[in-house]
Amino acid sequence: MSTVPILETRGLGRRFGALDAVSDVSFSVNQGEILGVIGPNGAGKSTFINLVTGHIKPTSGQVLIDGKDMTGQAPWDIARAGVARTFQIVKPFNGMTVRQNIAVGIMYESHGTNRLSVALEQAEAILEEVGLGGSGDRMPGELSTADIRRLEFAKALATKPRLLLLDEVMAGLRPTEIEPSLELIRTLKARGTTVIVVEHVMKAIVAVSDRVLVLAQGKVLMQGGAHEVLADPRVIEVYLGHRYAKRQKGNA
Ligand SMILES: Nc1ncnc2c1ncn2[C@@H]1O[C@H](COP(=O)(O)OP(=O)(O)OP(=O)(O)O)[C@@H](O)[C@H]1O
Ligand SMILES: [Mg+2]
Repeated sequence: MSTVPILETRGLGRRFGALDAVSDVSFSVNQGEILGVIGPNGAGKSTFINLVTGHIKPTSGQVLIDGKDMTGQAPWDIARAGVARTFQIVKPFNGMTVRQNIAVGIMYESHGTNRLSVALEQAEAILEEVGLGGSGDRMPGELSTADIRRLEFAKALATKPRLLLLDEVMAGLRPTEIEPSLELIRTLKARGTTVIVVEHVMKAIVAVSDRVLVLAQGKVLMQGGAHEVLADPRVIEVYLGHRYAKRQKGNA
């Protein structure tokens, strides 16, 4: 296995006005690793994904993919380097069926087929994998919240990424529905795919993560094994502090 991390960030930061949404984040992920990313609401998790995938430009620091500096590159250039992501605010192509949504991703992939009929057939296999078998002919607007997240997951898989960033793909799933998603992430790992999993569902994080990165107020609070991280007083404090603040706000 290559010793160059598939993804490395150095002092990565993004400022929105006076707010440091992401600040001085330095870390790396090795090929085949599953990295969980947790942190309270507003911790900078989605902004971090956006910085890695080129959807937002950093105001400081660097993003390296396979050791190559890709800082500030356009999303499509980063996608061509083998990086795919899901959006927390889902973005299906609404004028197309679920199957066609996936076929577009397959045809976009650089080694993918350029025949629509082949792409539609391959789309079916990906739909099965995410638990959307049988929904191929439906329109995205007809799907439940959980299914629309599965579609988002499938769209990212269609480009056959080497690095996949998942932004809360399990939100809104019932506990019994989470297990197939976890199984799929494990399958991806077995195929050598590197996965970064942003989730509030701690059970999911514990189940799949080789390592967990905790963000709080845009900064790395700590990283380590899932159990170690979740038992850490600093982590408990940022979560309890946040819940407490929310409860106070609700009472006001
Ligand atoms: N485009 C933007 N303009 C201004 N502020 C932004 C923008 N995007 C994010 N922010 C702010 O940056 C901070 C981090 O937001 P981000 O969405 O990355 O958090 P998050 O960890 O993904 O939260 P959640 O768990 O709720 O999804 C928040 O305070 C948010 O309001
Ligand atoms: Mg988010």
